[in-house]
Amino acid sequence: MQKRKKKIKIKKSGIIIIILIVLVLFLYNPIKSIFQISNKGYDLSTSYKIYKDGIKDIVLKNDYSKTLDYVINSDYYDEKEIDNYFKIKYFEYDEFLKNINIWLSLGYKYTDINSINEKNDNELNEFVSKKYVSDIVSYLDYDFFKVNNFDRYLNYFNGDYKDTIVKVNIGLDKKFFEDPNVIKDYSIDMIINKYNKLDNDFVPPNLTELDNCSEKGEYLTKEAKEAYDSLCFDSKKAGFSFGVTSSYRSYDEQLKIYNSYLKSNGQDYVDKYVATPGFSEHQTGLALDIKSLKGSPFKYTNEYKWMIENSYKYGFILRYPENLESITGYNPEAWHFRYVGKEIASFLKENNLTYEEYYAMYK
Ligand code: DAL
Ligand code: ZN
Repeated sequence: MQKRKKKIKIKKSGIIIIILIVLVLFLYNPIKSIFQISNKGYDLSTSYKIYKDGIKDIVLKNDYSKTLDYVINSDYYDEKEIDNYFKIKYFEYDEFLKNINIWLSLGYKYTDINSINEKNDNELNEFVSKKYVSDIVSYLDYDFFKVNNFDRYLNYFNGDYKDTIVKVNIGLDKKFFEDPNVIKDYSIDMIINKYNKLDNDFVPPNLTELDNCSEKGEYLTKEAKEAYDSLCFDSKKAGFSFGVTSSYRSYDEQLKIYNSYLKSNGQDYVDKYVATPGFSEHQTGLALDIKSLKGSPFKYTNEYKWMIENSYKYGFILRYPENLESITGYNPEAWHFRYVGKEIASFLKENNLTYEEYYAMYK
């Protein structure tokens, strides 16, 4: 009897050992793989998922990917994008997984997606979620692109990304005076041109009568006047003589000037030289037309030469330079200077920019 019991016991433990061996053989590979995967940096449940989804090999070939880690544990995971997940940098924000899912399905490449995310701009994210732009990165290269202008860049595109962005930011893709911005607040760097206008009743603060290098009855805002005083003082010392032909003009004054030039010179002329009322810098109290007391036309005087070389030191810029009418909207006006402050004036001089280009790129 005892012998039989022993036999049964041996039989039982034999079966258990066999079952264990089979189990170990059966589980050895998966367990080994899961540990290999988790060694890369994934937790055990993610490693199991990776193993189960049959993407072990590619995961083991690559470094740990936070993007894959997060996406595989979400509803946004798409197995066919596995290669991209390794190349898409992880960015910490709420919509990251949703966005990369939409952008990949629209056709954006991982390089596009990384560039878009680097901009960290919700409006841009929304824009690219609605539309595939194959050359998006070429636009994003320029920090001064504006999301709201994107459709206009695409419509206007002239073969040069930078030029397209600058021109559209200025407004050059639109007709003059079409749908202008209305500028309500005074600041020394405000821009008024054929795309940016003032309210009819806009009057700048602190208008101050000029009392140096000027006839009576000419006004600029206090800071522009003080800058002109200093320009006047230094230029006089150096032997130059300036006067003023026009400075601050109210809306009504501009209207009178406009109508009078229109009557005597015609529409073509006013379009090139005289601002439509509301669209004149003279209404800001920051612009002045100057003359030489030693001769004319101004462009051929030493005073003009001195202004070109020195006006930036006082914060003034030549507002409508030669050959740039396609950007400024006006024919060259050697006499029209604008106060923008020393910093901006120096920057424009250094970088050889019009005020329109400066605004399009740096404001
Ligand atoms: N002459 C300039 C453009 C003006 O009228 O404001
Ligand atoms: Zn002027």
